[in-house]
Amino acid sequence: MTKVLVTGSNGMLGQDLCPILEDSGYEVVETNSSSMDITNTDAVKNVIEKEMPDIVIHCAAYTNVDMAENDLKTAEFINVTGTENIAEYCGKLGITIVYISTDYVFDGTKSEPYTPQDRTNPINNYGMTKYEGEEAVRSLCEKYYIVRTSWLYGHHGKNFVETMLNLAKTQKELKVVNDQIGCPTWTVELANGIIKLLNGKPYGTYHVCGSGATSWYGFAEEIFAHVKEKVSLIPCTTSEFPRPAKRPSYSVMLNGGICRNWKLALRDYLDLRVDEEDAE
Ligand SMILES: NC(=O)c1ccc[n+]([C@@H]2O[C@H](COP(=O)([O-])OP(=O)(O)OC[C@H]3O[C@@H](n4cnc5c(N)ncnc54)[C@H](OP(=O)(O)O)[C@@H]3O)[C@@H](O)[C@H]2O)c1
Repeated sequence: MTKVLVTGSNGMLGQDLCPILEDSGYEVVETNSSSMDITNTDAVKNVIEKEMPDIVIHCAAYTNVDMAENDLKTAEFINVTGTENIAEYCGKLGITIVYISTDYVFDGTKSEPYTPQDRTNPINNYGMTKYEGEEAVRSLCEKYYIVRTSWLYGHHGKNFVETMLNLAKTQKELKVVNDQIGCPTWTVELANGIIKLLNGKPYGTYHVCGSGATSWYGFAEEIFAHVKEKVSLIPCTTSEFPRPAKRPSYSVMLNGGICRNWKLALRDYLDLRVDEEDAE
């Protein structure tokens, strides 16, 4: 049985990825910041040497994009040093590494979808540290998949879909940003996409995100249309919602057909969510 070690298994992606890997026939070793702090070289060495997995899927990261603007040191320590530690042992021991990266490695100045070969130019600290993580993987490992994803949502974390549905409980009018365009991605679609890569795609850099594209406003419209919630949505600009970190205005990525259209995935997520609420 192929053994996969997952970092960040308590995170939003990790909590969906681990059971999907198990259902697909992998033996899964879950790790989190207590069982293997990725910034601690000894911990990484000990756990990886003890487990000797065939594959490491590296999901752990400092993911608070706005906080990273004022806390570059911590973001670098986790996203760069932490990734170097993981990549070093994977490289040394010939273990395949899957590194989860982000659309925020791009500056958003293109007007057509980004390919994996397009020039990167992060415009915020989070994107910069995740890009440096990519570079660590490329330089330390031969057997790697760099998986860029975007606008993630899922059952197990703070995300746009849950924020919108929660806000709608108390507000019937919501202003939503209409001048940032990207690819919403369900964690389950990403997990299935990672498994497709492992099942025979050549090593390299991939975009694993929902097909198609929308703005945050378009994303919200689709959410409320599907759950039949009457909310008045008002499109607004990024400048009306100033945040510490700059976001690329256009971070649409070409995914090579690896994931379904974002609307289909969103509908499945929302239907599953209703089924689970009904079961409670
Ligand atoms: N969320 C998005 O919209 C998005 C978009 C593009 C790319 N990504 C990338 O996708 C991946 C998964 O994101 P996510 O949303 O699932 O993140 P998340 O929910 O914030 O989970 C990140 C996990 O990283 C772990 N972690 C943090 N510092 C650690 C350390 N020093 N040692 C070990 N583990 C540590 C945390 O573990 P503990 O719980 O144990 O503290 C946490 O569970 C990340 O690499 C992220 O950069 C996310």
